[in-house]
Amino acid sequence: MNRLAFISLLSIATLIGCKKEKDQNQMEDKSSTTTGSTITTSDFGTLPDGKEVKMYTLQNENGTSLSVINYGGIITHLKTRDKNGEFNDIVLGYDSLSSYLKSSPYFGALIGRYGNRIAKGKFTLDDELYTLPTNDGTNHLHGGPEGFDKVFWDIRQQSDSSLYLTYESADGEQGYPGKLSVAVTYSLSSNDELTIDYKATTDKKTVVNLTQHTYFNLTGDPTKSILDHQLRIDAQQFLPVDATLIPTGELQPVANTPFDFNTLTTIGERINNENEQLKRGRGYDHCWVFNPESNGSVRKVAELVDPSSGRVVEVLTTEPGIQFYSGNFLDGTLVGKGGVNYNHRTGLCLETQHFPDSPNQSNFPSVVLNPGEEYATTTIYKFGVR
Ligand code: GLA
Repeated sequence: MNRLAFISLLSIATLIGCKKEKDQNQMEDKSSTTTGSTITTSDFGTLPDGKEVKMYTLQNENGTSLSVINYGGIITHLKTRDKNGEFNDIVLGYDSLSSYLKSSPYFGALIGRYGNRIAKGKFTLDDELYTLPTNDGTNHLHGGPEGFDKVFWDIRQQSDSSLYLTYESADGEQGYPGKLSVAVTYSLSSNDELTIDYKATTDKKTVVNLTQHTYFNLTGDPTKSILDHQLRIDAQQFLPVDATLIPTGELQPVANTPFDFNTLTTIGERINNENEQLKRGRGYDHCWVFNPESNGSVRKVAELVDPSSGRVVEVLTTEPGIQFYSGNFLDGTLVGKGGVNYNHRTGLCLETQHFPDSPNQSNFPSVVLNPGEEYATTTIYKFGVR
């Protein structure tokens, strides 16, 4: 074979080799694997504006997995092992995008600009009054009717165990001042920790309070109530609310009340007690206040246990408070994953956050963000068995 022919054959062989590798890489983009973690993507539907919604599933080497979609940054599935090593989905949600679009009480969603309520949808910054849509009676809730739970988040794989979600909230969106650039990272570690890092910057003075609204049912069976779950919240005070669930401004001691969760306590034990605040919340739907000296550093603040499955979730956060919501508005009318009707109190939320209505309550930690500052908070949900 003459020299020219040999070089040509060698070049063709090299090109074939490269193409094969490229195809292989393209295949791995669908499921990139390094240290035993995998990320797979699949189609999850199309929004009315034509945007394609994908589902990204992170699975670590233990088999624990988290599924997230672009719409609302929603966690649609979270599968962890129980004490017998059986994996079950421990969060409420839907099988289809259309169900999320039709009606969802924030199942699994990222929440913003302002998690929880702002009284009468009004607040003042530098003597300027801002008016927000009132989508919860007379109040503004969870960023309004078109909050972050209902927007399209750009998602890209950040590593083989983390997803990076971004959203640009326009100046004046839902009535808030300032263009807010938001980035949220979901990371699933090899020791079964889901870390959520929230970051935001603004071009004008504004208010921000981001959180996550996953409904947990650690039994893995959403036909069961969460009232047998046990809860611990390391807080000496909570925020009593008025009839519209706006904090009165008082920081009430939990001692000798059904709101004392300083020791692991079965949620159903006192939830129906004769108590004005429990009646107002139609159960637990309040914000507990952590020791302010530790605000800003990641510390363990709560623990949720399901004795029947042995599943445990520890909650760590930099935030000053947590809203414990015992699924009081679930009434069986919503049909979730697998065709299950979500009955009363079959899911609960542990929404780490700054306090509700902080823009109007000067004694609460500030939620103001100025240009040049970075909003940065972290919450960790650590899964295990006991
Ligand atoms: C938060 C609120 C509850 C309820 C849920 C969504 O948890 O505190 O009152 O509105 O959101 O249904």
